[in-house]
Amino acid sequence: MVYFEKDSVYQSAREWVLAAGEIIRSTIDDPREVDTKKNANDLVTEMDRKVEAYFAEKIRTTYPDHLILSEEGFGDQVDDLKGTVWIIDPIDGTMNFVHQKRTFAISLAIFHQGIGEIGFIYDVMADIIYEVKKGEGAYKNGQKLAPLTDKKNLSESILMLNHLWCTPNDQVNHLKLGELVRTVRGARSYGSAALEFAYLSEGIVDAYISFHLQPWDYAAGVILYEEVGGQIVQATGEPLTYLKQEPTVAGHPNIVNQIIEDYIELK
Ligand code: IPD
Ligand code: CA
Ligand code: CA
Ligand code: CA
Repeated sequence: MVYFEKDSVYQSAREWVLAAGEIIRSTIDDPREVDTKKNANDLVTEMDRKVEAYFAEKIRTTYPDHLILSEEGFGDQVDDLKGTVWIIDPIDGTMNFVHQKRTFAISLAIFHQGIGEIGFIYDVMADIIYEVKKGEGAYKNGQKLAPLTDKKNLSESILMLNHLWCTPNDQVNHLKLGELVRTVRGARSYGSAALEFAYLSEGIVDAYISFHLQPWDYAAGVILYEEVGGQIVQATGEPLTYLKQEPTVAGHPNIVNQIIEDYIELK
């Protein structure tokens, strides 16, 4: 049995998230080395790697039994969520980081024996930390986030999605998503899945869909959003596994099933 002292793990994680944010913020105007990964628009910088390496070093030194599931290659091979697993995206929204120098976040979640116990989403440039300890409330810069309102209709909802899903693609019927965009009150795309989960948790937007999210994009966001009553499932309606890329629908519980049943046709 892996020893898990929730409060002290929480305090260490919080300290490291804030310190990593300071490293990024204090060098935000430095020249950047930008590489590409799967395609010309899939960006990565030396800072993505530096921040992930920072967390990996801290975690391995302090908690040698814990495992790391992360984006940039400093983590472990993680095949299940036994023991304690840190799920980390060092910079979520790298395109925003490179082009706009804002609206990106550090996303860090800690699972213990399969349960999401701790989550942080840190909007580095705005210095806004969203944090949650499962069962103890979700907070934005120390202010407790209110539970979601009782009722929500699709026609009065704001939906977040990447516009490309409304163009022909391999994953989903884009015409149906076009219908969804015409049905809701408005659509937004912020370019950081983690921050999009944070905005859902604040209740300022009502649904988010994406068809290729990785665990590090959504893990902290799910813990935060579930704490205020939000719902997150795969686009098939099945629960998320937190272990692989998954099509994801998140939103107010009144509208998630309707979105899946009426507007999502996976290929
Ligand atoms: C990306 C962002 C983006 C989402 C992509 C993610 P990254 O993460 O969250 O909003 O649409 O699917 O890969 O690569 O900037 O960490
Ligand atoms: Ca990336
Ligand atoms: Ca990401
Ligand atoms: Ca990233």
